[in-house]
Amino acid sequence: MSRFAYVNGRYLPFRDARVHVEDRGYQFADSIYEVCEVRGGRLIDERRHLERLQRSLKEICISMPMSVRALGIILREVVSRNRIGYGIVYMQITRGVARRDHAFPSPLTLPSVVVTARLLNMSRNEALAERGIAVVSVADDRWSRVDIKTTGLLPNVLARQHAIEQGARDAWFIDKEGMVTEASSANAWIVTSDGVLVTRHADRAILRGITRTVVFEVIKAKSLSVEERPFTLEEAYGAREAFITSASQIVLPVIRIDGRTVGDGKPGPVAMELRREFHRYAEAG
Ligand code: PDD
Repeated sequence: MSRFAYVNGRYLPFRDARVHVEDRGYQFADSIYEVCEVRGGRLIDERRHLERLQRSLKEICISMPMSVRALGIILREVVSRNRIGYGIVYMQITRGVARRDHAFPSPLTLPSVVVTARLLNMSRNEALAERGIAVVSVADDRWSRVDIKTTGLLPNVLARQHAIEQGARDAWFIDKEGMVTEASSANAWIVTSDGVLVTRHADRAILRGITRTVVFEVIKAKSLSVEERPFTLEEAYGAREAFITSASQIVLPVIRIDGRTVGDGKPGPVAMELRREFHRYAEAG
């Protein structure tokens, strides 16, 4: 099936979807992105993702190139032209095209806007969640503002590749104090031996995941115990359960960390319940 992308005002066949070589997203990762799940053809938690998009843009001083409403229309159009029932929609806004110079270009420079969408395989994702994944720890050598969702993801790319080369699926970043920050493209959680859910508080050292926020709502509704605090790798090794959260994987159980079995080595009941319940609390639009 042919794919389409939105590029700066036009819906183009995928093979013609291009940006300029002097786009600052390409040259400096001077650019912000968002990823929303699409389920039943509907955008999941669009409002929150677009709020975070605006916050990220503001943090790096790029003005929103169109209204939230207009962007919402484009997202839907891309989803519908690509016939996405279950998948993701990706949007990226860069500081635009300008002669290569580190300083911001003229304020008249128009931001570039790209939107793509692709299908995900639901049964494959469900099967993965039923099996659980292995992760390995890596030093968190990212910059100190990973709360901004920029496309500057080289440490995340290298961490993920390292994990795959170790036979794992993902990497967990460990900060200088030995605390787990997050995964390469997801937030990290554990369930302690006392049954308490723990995830790092959302400071500048992690991305405040939208899935994480909605999972907090599920936790509240189910009256589960939760603590927002840093946790060590040792604590994770000894946890009853571990899992990651992100828009594309929702709640994905972790069954091995650095080759050590977590709990009984199977996806845990808490993670699986949160996964099952998630869409009752997420907004679908
Ligand atoms: N990743 N932390 C990092 C570093 C991420 O890249 C992501 C999202 C998250 C989870 O955020 P959310 O729940 O809003 O998806 C946490 C997206 C899916 C990606 O890069 O593809």
